[in-house]
Amino acid sequence: MALKIIDHGSKEYQQMIDLRNDILRKPLGLSFNKEELDREKEDILIGAFDDEKILACCLLTKMDSITCKLRQMAVQNSQQGKGIGATMMNFAENVARDRGFRIMAMHARKTAAGFYEKLGYKVASDEFEEVTIPHYVMQKELI
Ligand SMILES: CC(C)(COP(=O)(O)OP(=O)(O)OC[C@H]1O[C@@H](n2cnc3c(N)ncnc32)[C@H](O)[C@@H]1OP(=O)(O)O)[C@@H](O)C(=O)NCCC(=O)NCCS
Repeated sequence: MALKIIDHGSKEYQQMIDLRNDILRKPLGLSFNKEELDREKEDILIGAFDDEKILACCLLTKMDSITCKLRQMAVQNSQQGKGIGATMMNFAENVARDRGFRIMAMHARKTAAGFYEKLGYKVASDEFEEVTIPHYVMQKELI
């Protein structure tokens, strides 16, 4: 498996959008709009690939000089539970650290909170609703 940073607008970026649609949006009856995707030009886009096929993705958005937000974390259905998500999180944390961020935060789906807890993230908010489902703010210091 190869972990890499993806260019906005590239073939890999389109694969990433398709994966995010399949895993994160279609099951909720939602999709992406152009403005939302245009804003991602500013983000750090990350993908895990096997033979040019995308297995998983996530992206990092700068919040302030020390904090970045992990978003759009998704692993192909058939590839879940094999350690790919944890490996990609480790890569994303290293990328964030290298760029000077000291805190990683996210709006974690309630159903995925246990995954992030295993990686050292702590719940930092009450439950709230986003994209129609319950979430928590979770975060961790990058040391
Ligand atoms: C949640 C998700 C990113 C996890 O990635 P993954 O590759 O399946 O997870 P891993 O195999 O790396 O799991 C790492 C550990 O977390 C645990 N884990 C994985 N998903 C979990 C979940 N939803 N709840 C609790 N624990 C979970 C695994 O059992 C494993 O534990 P172990 O280290 O004791 O063996 C992935 O399942 C996914 O894309 N789910 C659907 C979309 C989603 O919910 N995205 C997150 C949005 S915030």
